[in-house]
Amino acid sequence: MADAGGDAAFAELAARYDRLRPVDEGWWEVFDALVEAGRLGTAGRVLDIGCGTGRLVEVLARRGPRVWGVDPSEEMLAQARGCRPPGGGFKRAHAERLPFKDAWFDGAVMRQVVQHLELAAAFAEAGRVLRPGGRLAIATFHSHHFDTVWIARLVPRVAEIDRERFPSLERLTEALRAAGFAEPEARRIRQATRLTRAEALERLRGRFISTLHLLREDELAEAIARAERELPDTVESTLDWLILGAERA
Ligand SMILES: C[S@@+](CC[C@H](N)C(=O)[O-])C[C@H]1O[C@@H](n2cnc3c(N)ncnc32)[C@H](O)[C@@H]1O
Repeated sequence: MADAGGDAAFAELAARYDRLRPVDEGWWEVFDALVEAGRLGTAGRVLDIGCGTGRLVEVLARRGPRVWGVDPSEEMLAQARGCRPPGGGFKRAHAERLPFKDAWFDGAVMRQVVQHLELAAAFAEAGRVLRPGGRLAIATFHSHHFDTVWIARLVPRVAEIDRERFPSLERLTEALRAAGFAEPEARRIRQATRLTRAEALERLRGRFISTLHLLREDELAEAIARAERELPDTVESTLDWLILGAERA
């Protein structure tokens, strides 16, 4: 919907997604922050909007809530369908039009997805399917992320595209308010990461983020050639996360 290029990117990336973006210590730290921001641990029913390969759905469902995931990418959902969350499941849908009845969920989560959405429509839909007092938890990148993450430092065009694509805290707050959410609680998590040169090259060649699918072939080839020349044995970087939790009025 908001991001037509995203659909093609995730169709192509789906089979490699979990390998190139592994569940590591940093993933768990963000997961715990989302559970806290959305009070998801004590929720009865939770919706993961833009669930991708279903990893968060699977892990959260083991903690008690009934969890559903929606995603517009059939290829991402094909990966997700390997896991069968008890009492929940997966549906193909865009965030802007959710196939659930009003006030059905206690909690909802959007992890690394707001950059793809028409925010006004997606937050209005999240608000519609949440019960009054239900919470939406969001994990995205802080605007400063693109100054510190290795891929944006290596490929300036990625930084340029993502600075445009990722909504700021101010924009998110305004869109949440307009959709009937209370002032969100916001928290920032900075994670120092280290990749081997081989891991970084594998991610770049595998176009591990959808932004790399927006580059022209010659831009990508140039980025790979530059990485082969310049990347050190250990690639140090900082991920700068923004975590929001907002209550539906
Ligand atoms: C970076 S992935 C994140 C997947 C998962 N939430 C995670 O954290 O691993 C972004 C996901 O958003 C999905 N997406 C793109 N546009 C969307 C939309 N309009 N509504 C819901 N999901 C969307 C993509 O198909 C993709 O699975």
